[in-house]
Amino acid sequence: MSRAAASHAHRRSSIVEDSRRHWLDTYRTVRSETERRSAPLSPEDQAIQSMADASPTKWHRAHTTWFFEQFLLVPHGENYRVFDERFAFLFNSYYVAAGPRHARPKRGLITRPNAEEVAGYRAHVDRAVEELIEHAPPALLNEIIPIVEIGLHHEQQHQELILTDILHAFAQNPTYPVYNANWQAPRPQGNESGFAALPAGVHGIGHKGEGFSFDNELPAHRVLVERARIAKSLVTNAEWLEFMADGGYRTPALWLSDGWAAVEAEGWIAPGYWQEQDGAWFMMTLGGVRPVDPGSPVSHVSYYEADAFARWKGKQLPSEAEWEVALRHHLIADAFGIVWQWTRSAYLPYPGYRPPAGALGEYNGKFMVNQMVLRGSSLATPEGHARATYRNFFYPSQRWQFTGLRLADCDA
Ligand SMILES: [Fe+2]
Repeated sequence: MSRAAASHAHRRSSIVEDSRRHWLDTYRTVRSETERRSAPLSPEDQAIQSMADASPTKWHRAHTTWFFEQFLLVPHGENYRVFDERFAFLFNSYYVAAGPRHARPKRGLITRPNAEEVAGYRAHVDRAVEELIEHAPPALLNEIIPIVEIGLHHEQQHQELILTDILHAFAQNPTYPVYNANWQAPRPQGNESGFAALPAGVHGIGHKGEGFSFDNELPAHRVLVERARIAKSLVTNAEWLEFMADGGYRTPALWLSDGWAAVEAEGWIAPGYWQEQDGAWFMMTLGGVRPVDPGSPVSHVSYYEADAFARWKGKQLPSEAEWEVALRHHLIADAFGIVWQWTRSAYLPYPGYRPPAGALGEYNGKFMVNQMVLRGSSLATPEGHARATYRNFFYPSQRWQFTGLRLADCDA
């Protein structure tokens, strides 16, 4: 080998080794965050399922582990031994191509494996994944990195759900347990009220270039943004209290038909987790029941409520394209880290979208009907998970997530 060729080979091998180290570190960091979030929860806390939409903590810990076992270790781990053949049935969520699965609303009935056995499952899979990253030949390493990467982003999504789901469970307990006594609502950074004019015209949205994205952020494409303005700040609890005092929840003309049906069926008179005591409003939080802070952005409102509030204000919700263009032009504050923000955009495929081949093609594409897009991120979103093009989505009646809103105005 010539000196030039040897130096080239050396450079290539050090790039491969750097990549191994990077993915080992990232894997350990993300996996340990799941355990950090679960640590304050007893085995009894971890087994409970308070509604069909929410899953037990123990299930989240096992399901994220199954994801690596099913999609990484079974196809690519040489001599990998499946931890327990029965777990695929228990911990597959919605991947039809990966086989049959336990009914989602019945996840809370699974007392065994217990929390300790799930910890053993996590350790078993961690050892095998780390071994694979450390020793895979370079060609195989290239093949598995995208699977490790989506597995970690998947796990981060479940880290958010660990918090939203236990909050829902704790809110059903008349003693209102505290997840974290030191919990503080994040303070909004934006100190400007009012609206910013969007640059009307043709803009690019969607993910392009380097870095991870989910398939639903693709392909990048052009959109037409009409003349409009977008609120610099999030809607606050103080504004929501005005809406309530003005009969917002009692005025059918403000509501979409499905929204009014939800108000009547659910008996909504305030955002989720709010309760009135002696004329003052309190809310269930990760720190237990606390007084509603008028300066904090409103949270736990459904799309229907966000839409009705906007109508009451004589405004509307931004479209997801308006939101992304506004962010790229630095027009909005508190886009990330407080509440996901409802948009008026239905969750639809971008022009030219194709789900990926195989079971992972079920990740996003098959949910593109009847849901609305939310942008930004929330206080429960793990560090490093949010980005400008991220498309979250929920059904319009759901409000157990940290969901709020900012307004838009077409009268530019
Ligand atoms: Fe999942």
